[in-house]
Amino acid sequence: MSQPSPAPTVQWADAKHRYEILVDGKRAGLTAYRDRGEQRVFYHTEIDDAFAGQGLASRLVQEALTDVRESGKRIVPVCPYVAKFLKRHEEFADITDPVTPDVLQWLDTQLG
Ligand SMILES: CC(C)(COP(=O)(O)OP(=O)(O)OC[C@H]1O[C@@H](n2cnc3c(N)ncnc32)[C@H](O)[C@@H]1OP(=O)(O)O)[C@@H](O)C(=O)NCCC(=O)NCCS
Repeated sequence: MSQPSPAPTVQWADAKHRYEILVDGKRAGLTAYRDRGEQRVFYHTEIDDAFAGQGLASRLVQEALTDVRESGKRIVPVCPYVAKFLKRHEEFADITDPVTPDVLQWLDTQLG
C-alpha cells in the first residue's frame, strides 16, 4: 500500500522576497513581495499548472499573511489573488493597508 502524501508546507525564502509552497519537497508555487518600511507589499502569486485548483494558493497566502502578522508588519495587496483572499478573510483587515498610487510607483521602481 502506498504512503499518503505529506501535507504541503510553506517556507519563507527571505533572500528571494517570497514565500514558497512545497508538495513532496518540490516547489509548487510562490507569493512574492517587497518590503516598504513596515509594509509587506504582495505583488504576485502563482501556482504551477500541475497543482492548480487544489487550494494551494489559499493555503500559501494564509500562512504568508499569518507570518506578516507575527512579524508585526502590515499587508498591501497589489496582487489580485491576495486582494481577493483578503475580501474573504476579514481577520487580516486590521493589518491591511490600501493600494495607493504611491505604493504602485514605489513598486515599479523596486521591480525595475
Ligand atoms: C491564481 C492562482 C495563483 C490560483 O492558484 P490555485 O492554487 O489554483 O488557487 P486556489 O485553489 O487556492 O483558489 C482558486 C481560486 O483562485 C481564484 N483565482 C484564479 N485566478 C485568479 C486571479 N488571477 N486573480 C484572483 N483570483 C484568481 C479562482 O477564482 C478561485 O476562486 P474561488 O475559490 O472563489 O473559486 C493560479 O491560478 C495561478 O498561478 N495563476 C497564474 C498567475 C496569476 O494569475 N496570479 C494571480 C495574480 S498575481
